[in-house]
Amino acid sequence: RPAFMMGRGALIVFEGLDRSGKSTQAQLLARALTEGGKDVLAPSPVQRPPSDDAAGVEYVWRFPDRSTHIGQTLNTYLSSKDAEPLHPRVQHLLFSANRWERAEAIRAALVAGRSVILDRYTYSGIVYSCSLGLELDWCMPPDAGLPRPDVVCFLSVSPEVAARRGEFGLERYENTEMQRRVRDNFERLFAHTAVSDHNIHNFDADREMQAVHRDIVELVQRVIANVADSPSTSVLS
Ligand code: TYD
Ligand code: MG
Repeated sequence: RPAFMMGRGALIVFEGLDRSGKSTQAQLLARALTEGGKDVLAPSPVQRPPSDDAAGVEYVWRFPDRSTHIGQTLNTYLSSKDAEPLHPRVQHLLFSANRWERAEAIRAALVAGRSVILDRYTYSGIVYSCSLGLELDWCMPPDAGLPRPDVVCFLSVSPEVAARRGEFGLERYENTEMQRRVRDNFERLFAHTAVSDHNIHNFDADREMQAVHRDIVELVQRVIANVADSPSTSVLS
């Protein structure tokens, strides 16, 4: 299809625990998609804000986006355990606001026919906050109206394999107890009626990364082909 008839792009989300391979898979996918298409831009490990590049380009964005105003506040909070504590509800609203800082740029890219790959999104936002004790029903409304994903790739890693992938870093939440709660809350969220129709796919991420990658590419290519014919983007409710 000629560029001027290009349909919209797909919003592709990676979710999972720390060390499940989200960032690696997001980059591998971006490379596979850009190499397979025209108007290619090589992906970069740093997020690339949408520009006036030709249609069809894929971007990888990660949340929290630490480069924004609110992202810097979150970065300070996450990376220093000495930082002034933030009330869980305040944290939650900041993480949500951080997504809103990028909402219009994501929507614009999709409308321009570019697919966008996100490394964490609203699901992490809800699940980490629930793991701090907040109620699921309180956590969802701030994200209502954000661009709705066309597919969610959940990378499921066993605690044993995650442990073999190296030690946790020094950031807040990078500990076994928190990760266990996060894992349980992802399960709870994906079973919730509000998101159960979000096209969520589980991938066994204990496997070798190229095997996981091949399955993801196959699924995502189908999703991209489908959304190209669907006229408009939709939003989270
Ligand atoms: P992480 O993906 O680990 O960032 P990086 O790739 O830069 O290491 O995210 C940092 C932490 O923030 C992680 O523990 C998950 C947490 N988080 C939330 O608590 N709420 C959110 O909305 C998001 C996006 C992340
Ligand atoms: Mg991390």
